[in-house]
Amino acid sequence: MSNEQVDLKRRRMLTAATAGVGAVGAAAMVVPFGMSLLPSEKAKAAGAPVEVDISMIEDGQQITVEWRGKPVWIVKRPESVLNDLLTLDGELADPQSEADQQPEYAKNEGRSINPEISVLVGICTHLGCSPSYRPELAPADLGDGWKGGYFCACHGSRFDLAGRVYKSVPAPTNLIVPPHQYLTDTLILVGEDGGAS
Ligand code: FES
Repeated sequence: MSNEQVDLKRRRMLTAATAGVGAVGAAAMVVPFGMSLLPSEKAKAAGAPVEVDISMIEDGQQITVEWRGKPVWIVKRPESVLNDLLTLDGELADPQSEADQQPEYAKNEGRSINPEISVLVGICTHLGCSPSYRPELAPADLGDGWKGGYFCACHGSRFDLAGRVYKSVPAPTNLIVPPHQYLTDTLILVGEDGGAS
């Protein structure tokens, strides 16, 4: 292979790699670009807020984005789920979200700004495993009373679809709601408060 052919092949590979990064989307761009940043820029990017387009999320669907190295779950909750959340208080350890696990604007029944959309840090408050999303009703392994939520297989902690922890499980508190705000009806900025109250 001549030098010119080698150069052409290399250029094609670089073009393909760049196109691949561009297609990943805003939410994940911090990671691939992080390697080439100066240390101070890298630190800044690691803590930077993440824009998430929620326009394509369907009822009951969960998407995961990364913020500060942690998974953040965003779920579109159908009305049936919102109704079920109202029936669970007696089974939960902190149904009114008294513990400081959410911004003030998410201290409400759904622990959210928009009742339809939940935004939670996907890390168990016991020892840091990442629970599974289990939206189905009454699956065999979780029992007849299960109305959808998160199950942490590490030590059996359970959370509802607002991230509220059930009583008598190892996890001591509700899942964390990260600071976030709506830039538009369908664009969330995770990692920064918008001053909503
Ligand atoms: S880490 Fe989730 S139950 Fe222990």
